[in-house]
Amino acid sequence: MATQRIGIIMNGVTGRMGTNQHLVRSIVAIRSQGGIALPGGDTLMPDPILVGRSEHKLRTLTEAYGIERWSTDLDACLADAEDTIYFDAQTTTRRAEAIRAAIQAGKHIYCEKPIATDTATALELAQMADRAGVKHGVVQDKLFLPGLLKLKRVIDSGFFGRILSVRGEFGYWVFEGDWQTAQRPSWNYRKEEGGGIIVDMVCHWQYVLSNLFGRITGVSCLGTTHIPERVDEQGQSYASTADDAAYSTFEIENGIIAHFNSSWAVRVYRDELLSIQVDGTHGSAVAGLRECKVQSRVNTPRAIWNPDVPNPINFRENWMDVPDNGTFENGFKAQWELFLRHVALDEPFRWNLYEGAKGVQLAELALQSWAERRWLDIPQLAGSREA
Ligand SMILES: NC(=O)c1ccc[n+]([C@@H]2O[C@H](COP(=O)([O-])OP(=O)(O)OC[C@H]3O[C@@H](n4cnc5c(N)ncnc54)[C@H](O)[C@@H]3O)[C@@H](O)[C@H]2O)c1
Repeated sequence: MATQRIGIIMNGVTGRMGTNQHLVRSIVAIRSQGGIALPGGDTLMPDPILVGRSEHKLRTLTEAYGIERWSTDLDACLADAEDTIYFDAQTTTRRAEAIRAAIQAGKHIYCEKPIATDTATALELAQMADRAGVKHGVVQDKLFLPGLLKLKRVIDSGFFGRILSVRGEFGYWVFEGDWQTAQRPSWNYRKEEGGGIIVDMVCHWQYVLSNLFGRITGVSCLGTTHIPERVDEQGQSYASTADDAAYSTFEIENGIIAHFNSSWAVRVYRDELLSIQVDGTHGSAVAGLRECKVQSRVNTPRAIWNPDVPNPINFRENWMDVPDNGTFENGFKAQWELFLRHVALDEPFRWNLYEGAKGVQLAELALQSWAERRWLDIPQLAGSREA
């Protein structure tokens, strides 16, 4: 019963996603649970080296989480043959260059979405990784959310009959930064720095829709910048050059119509920050991050339009919770464990860079649809696998 060490170069871990989801909730959590149990009794133990620009931030993180190694020299880290995985959660525009260097150094690649800001670059990264014979993966965390795992279970049970439509509501109010600090980094609102809600969120809708409902064949998208001026981390006003809301409709191959509203300028009157309603001939469901409720055909109240009398029906009654029937791990951690097993044991891992490239493609076509004010078809990407 031996411990097998697996060395991971983690870049961008001083950021919001890097620290909270990837370092603390995933790698530190895996280390705290004693690693990943392998068949035969061995244990796989991640050994990260944290890479970034700020010595102070890196030192603070390593001390807080019991990690031994940090560095401000990415090239030196890539040159170390003992660390076989490169992970990237830097700001989006920096990702492609770093991944190219990591592939050239023979590292397996795991990274945040979007993997690039344009489809050609995204596809090039996937093909480059394949040619180099390294393993690769992209974060598709929403698939591992308890609410969406339950929704998948409802779909697989045949509950819906024929699925007709999907409506997604995502968003919350991101403070402008003047009288309350913003909850998101300012680069999110600058197009020239890789910002924009379409680039950020449409890649999530791509894998959610294609994994749960089928291949996306068309897109129509209207973006906008509702809040034209914000205040950054230094208290300086800046012009928002990127879209902060997107109203997008997707056609799915089997006739399902999906519409997603994504906004950082909306106040929440929902149970969760993401809500996905699915309507089918035999039943409907509303899934969020953690919960999923269903209403079947026989539980559907007879709604009658009559504004002259107070509403006689409480429409939230007659919905039932889908039970957990198990425990759910943090979604980022669950996917990390699968990727580490993929590298160590050669187990299958379908969320690869080609899948990441499909997300970039859909975001790019959504932006084009908005610019040209028209529907666009989604061509199949060379080398990609169908979900
Ligand atoms: N999967 C998800 O749900 C999800 C959610 C939010 C963000 N993201 C993605 O994660 C990535 C990071 O987003 P975030 O919100 O954590 O951003 P952030 O601004 O909080 O962190 C960015 C990281 O990149 C580093 N960085 C920025 N500029 C750099 C430079 N010039 N040189 C070296 N390092 C630099 C920062 O130090 C930091 O570690 C983005 O690509 C974003 O799209 C994914």
